[in-house]
Amino acid sequence: MMATKLKIRIYGDPCLRKKSSLVKDVGPAERQLIASLLETMYEYKGVGLAAPQVGINEQIFVADVGAGPLVFINPKIIRKKGSVVLEEGCLSIPGVTVGVKRPSVISVRYLNEENRTLERECTELLARVIQHETDHLNGKLIVDYLSLAQKRKFKKQLKEIEAKK
Ligand code: NI
Repeated sequence: MMATKLKIRIYGDPCLRKKSSLVKDVGPAERQLIASLLETMYEYKGVGLAAPQVGINEQIFVADVGAGPLVFINPKIIRKKGSVVLEEGCLSIPGVTVGVKRPSVISVRYLNEENRTLERECTELLARVIQHETDHLNGKLIVDYLSLAQKRKFKKQLKEIEAKK
């Protein structure tokens, strides 16, 4: 399968704000997309990348927190515990990091590349990445977690990112 490096959509692109559709069946087209998402994520040294970030509004994301590639299709966070604030960046919003408060432990139910439904409990960085990428599938971005005062601080920078996209 040919993995292609894809163009990452930048803040201001409408596909980052759409709700992505459920994948009915993981077939060759989805596997091709997954391979390309992984290739693109590694190229940009990201720890996660969601399909809407390459302009495809389907519920698929990839991640690698140092233990090898992971693929999540139609993810649903079914349990949450605890709460922690961590700084997050996003390949679609270059140069911006936001302190985001999220549950520290989660369980996610998802489909894998073989159309099998799996469940996994995640902590630490993986729990964080899964929540960040699941947000992408719902059209939500880290800047949506900014307080009003913080929003004012980032306004100019976000306008500049949007102008360059
Ligand atoms: Ni992101």
